[in-house]
Amino acid sequence: MKVTVVGAGNVGATCADVIARKEFVHEVVLLDIKEGVSEGKSLDIWQTAPINLFDTRMIGSTNDYSRTANSDVVVITSGLPRKPGMSRDDLIATNAGIVRSVTENIIKHSPNTIIIVVSNPLDVMTYCAYLTAQIDPSRVFGMAGILDTARYRAFLAEALNVSPKDIQAVLMGGHGDTMVPLPRYTTVAGIPVTELISPEKLDAIVERTKKGGGELVNLMGTSAWYAPGAAAAQMVEAVIKDQKRIFPCCAWLNGEYGLKDIYLGVPVKLGRKGIEQIIELQLNAEEKKLLTDSAKAVKEVMGVLDNMSQAASK
Ligand code: LAC
Repeated sequence: MKVTVVGAGNVGATCADVIARKEFVHEVVLLDIKEGVSEGKSLDIWQTAPINLFDTRMIGSTNDYSRTANSDVVVITSGLPRKPGMSRDDLIATNAGIVRSVTENIIKHSPNTIIIVVSNPLDVMTYCAYLTAQIDPSRVFGMAGILDTARYRAFLAEALNVSPKDIQAVLMGGHGDTMVPLPRYTTVAGIPVTELISPEKLDAIVERTKKGGGELVNLMGTSAWYAPGAAAAQMVEAVIKDQKRIFPCCAWLNGEYGLKDIYLGVPVKLGRKGIEQIIELQLNAEEKKLLTDSAKAVKEVMGVLDNMSQAASK
């Protein structure tokens, strides 16, 4: 099994590192456009192998896509990260061109691959990769829900002073401030979270989660990488090992939740074929409204991408 991670920035390198340590593929190719960076980071990760005890082979490549040939899964992390004061949507003009050209190269060398998009604005960059790859949407999806849910779960674990391992949650919608954490589907070792925390505290955690990425951008001057990298690696593992895990992922909707022709975060089953099922929850009226509002926000930015593509083809 072979995985390629495109983009050897903080998120890409972290993702490659986590995959290498977990030893569920034979080979990880890390590719970047910047001369020497992916070779350097791959070599650095490889030199942790005798310490961290893994034998996953690490290959770095400066923009030579022939090295990525026949990848089973490709993770796209390329593009600019956010700076303080920017929304994820501000990145669209730069990152759409990058994601398009990366996807073209990937599909040329790995026509049967599964593509996991991490670049921002996430939902729209996933759409961009889908339009470019022209493969079934079950094989093109985005990483956001695992990250956003992990933030939500981490905040809850801290507030309740319990292990993060025991917190299960679902979160839906776009990867932006309109995301929809779902307290009604949040449990602590099977106990509904609403029995353990006051509504005010829970509301505050939901709000902090929605701005969780921005909180880190403000602290660090650039966007996060440990949790995004680990979240993408968890999706790769679910696919490679055919785990059939249920995760919130950015998926192409075709009528589910009353939404069509849109990439949006929903719970899915991930296995060797990619998205093997979209799980439809029985949302109440309030949850449905939040999801519809989030879909509207994502559709707007998808429209910006469609207009950019039309202008470019004129
Ligand atoms: C974040 C970026 C990766 O949420 O979107 O940290």
